Amino acid sequence: MTTDETATRSGSGTGPLPFDTTKAHQARIYDYLLGGKDNYAVDRAAADAALEAWPELGFAARANRAFLSRVVRYLAVDAGIRQFLDLGTGIPTAGNLHEVAQAIAPESRVVYVDYDPIVLAHARALLDSNEAGATEYIDADLRDTGTILTQAAQVLDFTKPVAVTMLTILHVVPESDNPRAIVARLLDAVPPGSCLAISHASSDLFDPETAERFKGVLDRTLRQQYTPRNRDQMEQFFAGMDLVEPGLVPVEEWRSESGHGDARKSYMWSAVGRKR
Ligand SMILES: C[S@@+](CC[C@H](N)C(=O)[O-])C[C@H]1O[C@@H](n2cnc3c(N)ncnc32)[C@H](O)[C@@H]1O
Repeated sequence: MTTDETATRSGSGTGPLPFDTTKAHQARIYDYLLGGKDNYAVDRAAADAALEAWPELGFAARANRAFLSRVVRYLAVDAGIRQFLDLGTGIPTAGNLHEVAQAIAPESRVVYVDYDPIVLAHARALLDSNEAGATEYIDADLRDTGTILTQAAQVLDFTKPVAVTMLTILHVVPESDNPRAIVARLLDAVPPGSCLAISHASSDLFDPETAERFKGVLDRTLRQQYTPRNRDQMEQFFAGMDLVEPGLVPVEEWRSESGHGDARKSYMWSAVGRKR
């Protein structure tokens, strides 16, 4: 590993990721799992090895994407939120957050944030807001909350409730980067009535052997540092907030309309909290 890679993986450096096709990137693996075309041989090889270690990874990616739609619908309809700050947007695909939100409330304003150059290259697809609302894209590292909040303030009114969505991003933020402090800084900037939505790979839902095999593959192949967390750690992100029903559950169970007739498991925690 080069010094630059060490800095990025350990988290001591912030800023956009370099464009690199020698290491698998989280955004491109996810794109491959969802049937997209914006990925490279290195990403497909890593995803295939991860699928071999844990065959339900593809299901987990799709279940997470379905969770995104249900969460945004909840936030727009039930919580009445019209402003969204989406951290770790990913490569645009069907059902982007602003499309779901603006289909319900055309005036919704959405700020997307990601640090992967391939997401930036496709950001145009995220900027096709309807006229009543607005979308913006910020090319920044989640850990650089100062830059994110300053730029987001040009589109979002931080005196009104904001939904902060962090779906499948925090499990590539290692403890050394203090992800709880990152979340707390973002929540400090938004008023009561704002919401936080998180989905996150678990460390305690898997059987230990599968967990170890799966983590072994990602530790070998992934540019980012895979850091699954347990229920307690997940709850800590919502400290001082009220968890919305049904609380902290696997993504496929969170307000699932179809119930869960599917025996497959995502092994990913999810929850939505409301700021008091
Ligand atoms: C798996 S994708 C998730 C996409 C979308 N949130 C969803 O759940 O469907 C995670 C995204 O987080 C981005 N990401 C990871 N670490 C990041 C960081 N430190 N700063 C900004 N973006 C980051 C990756 O580049 C990737 O595009």
